[in-house]
Amino acid sequence: MCGIIAYAGNKPAASVVLEGLKKLEYRGYDSWGIVALADNPESAENAGRSFSVIKRVGKIGEINWDYVSEAIRGESHVAVGHTRWSTHGGVTEQNAHPHLDCSGKIAVVHNGIVDNHQEIRSGLGSHKFLSKTDTEVIPHLIEEIMSKESLDFVAAVRRAANTLKGRSAFVAVNSETGQMAAARKGAPLIMGMHENSNEEFFIASDVTAFLDYTNKVMYLDDNEMAVVDGKVAFFNLMSGNELVKRIVEIHWHHGSTEKEGYDHFLIKEIMEQKSTLSRAINQDDAKLLAVANEVKNAFGTFLVGCGTAGKTCVVGEYLFSKIARKHINSVVASEFANYQHYLTPKTLMIAVSQSGETADVLEAIDVAKSKSVRVVSLLNVFGSTMMRVSDDFFMVNAGAERAVVSTKATTAQLAVLTLLAYATAGKLQEGKLLLMNAASAVNDMLNPRYEEHIKKLALQLVDKKDAFIIGRGLNYPIALEAAIKLQETCYTHAQGFAGGELKHGPLALIEDGTACIAIVANDETKQDMISNAAEVKARGGYIIGIAPENNEVFDYWLKVPDVGNASPIVSIIPVQILAYHIAVLRGINPDYPRNLAKVITTK
Ligand code: G6P
Repeated sequence: MCGIIAYAGNKPAASVVLEGLKKLEYRGYDSWGIVALADNPESAENAGRSFSVIKRVGKIGEINWDYVSEAIRGESHVAVGHTRWSTHGGVTEQNAHPHLDCSGKIAVVHNGIVDNHQEIRSGLGSHKFLSKTDTEVIPHLIEEIMSKESLDFVAAVRRAANTLKGRSAFVAVNSETGQMAAARKGAPLIMGMHENSNEEFFIASDVTAFLDYTNKVMYLDDNEMAVVDGKVAFFNLMSGNELVKRIVEIHWHHGSTEKEGYDHFLIKEIMEQKSTLSRAINQDDAKLLAVANEVKNAFGTFLVGCGTAGKTCVVGEYLFSKIARKHINSVVASEFANYQHYLTPKTLMIAVSQSGETADVLEAIDVAKSKSVRVVSLLNVFGSTMMRVSDDFFMVNAGAERAVVSTKATTAQLAVLTLLAYATAGKLQEGKLLLMNAASAVNDMLNPRYEEHIKKLALQLVDKKDAFIIGRGLNYPIALEAAIKLQETCYTHAQGFAGGELKHGPLALIEDGTACIAIVANDETKQDMISNAAEVKARGGYIIGIAPENNEVFDYWLKVPDVGNASPIVSIIPVQILAYHIAVLRGINPDYPRNLAKVITTK
């Protein structure tokens, strides 16, 4: 949710920032902006001030350097960029970042929310605001503090950062001194550099923005700031004390971040499930067994996540119950605080997150930590905040997921949770064999003929506004997840239900031709699911069966392999493909659904 990339060094700064922003676009794509500090102010577009700024509404995706250089003229070795997911103020150029102070000498980009922005703004009565954003108070506040308190830029940034309330992170740059100062208060910022060299520095919301240049990083923690001024120094925001930081090398191959011939990232990532599952199950047995042991001995285990990861957690609850005979609780992260009364130092939290940066999950972890709960995370992004605040973590190894809609990370999370459930049951090898079989079945299933078959169904559904999805047991949460896929990818109004629940209300909505996807695994729920599908069909519903075997109740059959307890993994894949093709037929860009972002760093 909003991406920041700042650069100071010997390369053309604005161009480095432009490329970095493209890698961060999944965090927000309402609008974008870059501010560059010209080496020679006279050559900048706005001579007299040495900043040049470009801000545009829309995605940065296809923007090339020629376009940017129209606005950012002249050489520049310091630049800061931002890609926005709006919180305060509509999607306009004025509201895009960077925001400047009245003098035009301080520029700021920001990720998160300034909760007390109204209060700050009213205290800055004489300042001229140009946007409706909360962010714009930051450069003005820095300006005010510098002039009223005669503090230098860095001290004023620190003072300003301490005034802000809410989860956020920002980078401020001063055109007079060329200094960059970054403050972290609850939203991620990572510094990239080279060892024993002051040649170049990167500050970004996540490492992917600069991994092409360096894998050496220093992590900013909450309430810390970094100052780049030919060298880098770190300070505690509260005390102002200088901090000694360690350089950490990231050995993480996040895979290709290009489309590699596919029309969209989404379909590429769906197809990558041919290989991601085998990577996901390639975990350290000792760690799996240790965490399984923790689950066995915990006084309450909570699976916590948001959105799609939240649905994965619900599958986890079913998996542990069915495979390990262990009751654990899945809780949506934003609701987790309501369970704090049940937490003890013997409780275990398993936090599931693709990005490792979701604010609601981080807050849930804070709650857990305040009660001395041990936290183990399932993550897909190395170096993320969650990785660092958890006591232990598993990487699900799906590789970079660029499409906002999660696919390969979801099935990788499901695979690791299945392994953990089997490990808890003392049957790790059995679980591995099952998943290896599922991985190879998915590899076979994802072929062009299969896609074509689903594309034909997409053509039939393209004009349908609604869809219902039903499932039972392990596949009940998959019905919920399938609904999310259809909602966010192709804007179909979709709702998932437990098969048994339709007759308790939603059946009233079934009309002639209403689409209903029935997930019918070859397990103990099969007969009841067939009956539920028949009930819908009897009322005119059009039944799309996702099942290993065809059935007369199905109007359209999407075959999936019979993989026992790994069925949630295979059941969701045809829905991912279906949602993708309906989106394409509707002219929707499936990589960038409206109003959404991949990483949600606000509550
Ligand atoms: C956003 C994304 C979803 C994702 C959710 C949780 O809403 O659009 O795809 O499932 O955040 O993200 P996380 O990174 O914690 O898995």
